[in-house]
Amino acid sequence: MLRHSLISSSRSLLARHSKHAAMATRAMSAKAAEMHISHPLSHADVDADPKTHDIIEKHAKYTLTTYGRPPVVFTHGKGSYLYDVGHREYLDFTAGIAVNALGHSDPEVARILFDQAKTVVHMSNLYYNVPAGELAEQLIESTRASGHFQASKIFFSNSGTEANEGALKFARKVAKVTAQPGQENNKFGVVSFVNGFHGRSMGALSATPNPKYQKPFLPLVPGFVHAPYNDVAAIDQYVTPETCAVIIEPIQGEGGINVASEAFLKKLRSRCDEVGALLIYDEIQCGLGRTGKLWAHQHFSEHCTPDILTMAKPLANGFPIGAIMITDKVAEKIVIGDHGTTFGGNPLGCAVASSVLRRINNPEFLDNVNRNGEHFKQQLESIKSTLIKEVRSKGMILGLQFTVDPAPLVALARERGLLIITAANNTIRFVPALNISKAEIDQGMEILKKAIIAFEDKTLNVTA
Ligand SMILES: Cc1ncc(COP(=O)(O)O)c(C=O)c1O
Repeated sequence: MLRHSLISSSRSLLARHSKHAAMATRAMSAKAAEMHISHPLSHADVDADPKTHDIIEKHAKYTLTTYGRPPVVFTHGKGSYLYDVGHREYLDFTAGIAVNALGHSDPEVARILFDQAKTVVHMSNLYYNVPAGELAEQLIESTRASGHFQASKIFFSNSGTEANEGALKFARKVAKVTAQPGQENNKFGVVSFVNGFHGRSMGALSATPNPKYQKPFLPLVPGFVHAPYNDVAAIDQYVTPETCAVIIEPIQGEGGINVASEAFLKKLRSRCDEVGALLIYDEIQCGLGRTGKLWAHQHFSEHCTPDILTMAKPLANGFPIGAIMITDKVAEKIVIGDHGTTFGGNPLGCAVASSVLRRINNPEFLDNVNRNGEHFKQQLESIKSTLIKEVRSKGMILGLQFTVDPAPLVALARERGLLIITAANNTIRFVPALNISKAEIDQGMEILKKAIIAFEDKTLNVTA
């Protein structure tokens, strides 16, 4: 019945609505016909609640389309589950792309948001506020206590991209004021790495060497070069006396879950010291407990510590916030007026982040991330498929690499009730809530296995 109403409402939509809504609806109608004759799925797009169409139609009419989205509308979440308009339950292995570390609708996060919103939300950076100072202290002290990075100051932003943008500005400023006389305008080079992702603003995009993201917006910021990841021998050639910063993810997320080697980070650190460049770790996706330690770089020795670390995604469990953490060497070169933001460091985000950080940076919590990350990895390794090439992981950031593009697997899993995302290099990425249970992991694995069988059917039948 629902299926029929969906198909007929699809037809009327086609006639009436904007290009994007019509395209989405057309895709659903084609799928509807296909699904009608083949197997029923627990979460088939064609069985979506009819309200789904109206919501998508309105969205597409008024919102710029820069994302290819499936025809599903989520209304709420709880823990590791999301629910769509028709109350269908989905197990979420994406956690808002490594954001909802404590799961959806966490009661304590909700309580702090409510309490702080009743107290004060924003008063700008013209004035001090209590939660920002407390969060800064907590971040610096917990970082110093848990590793070798001698962080001393924080600058709060609203997102990961902005944190990286600020970090790059700080590096250029430091180079300018420390350069040999006459060299002040020559030391502006930035080295980033193939398959790295640092954001989409002009500076962050310049450090993100994906032609798909960069090409439409050329020319970008001058001075950026892109070196091969984990290639120790190539470092000297890319990091030169004209380099002011090297920016790197200790574990590449969007790039396909690639873990840096100790030798590589050690060489980067020593080469940065040699040429007077700053080493920036982008831990926006891999940091804050995701790998089972507070910071991903803490899996490496003291010879691999950065000068600047950027963070964002899980810091306030979904409330937008980012931060740049720097050593004294950097802080002492930055003066009033060098950088700014209206919203960054607002009391609302900082109050939430303080609580989230306290809960994540807890030995029991991190042990659990390690244990469940290991379990997740073993489960992935136990999947038998000729299409699977490799499992890569550290804690709760995992990649399942295929021999072919696994993009269709995302829909095959979703239509069975499991949310997953892709990464570069034929990889499916898993970045669930850090407090996901073993039982939930196992439930997701059962769905994933069925989706992979369907993917094999599809792929092998096409190539046969
Ligand atoms: C490693 C890394 N850096 C930077 C960013 C950009 O962060 P945001 O989307 O919060 O601006 C992302 C986002 O996916 C990321 O994964």
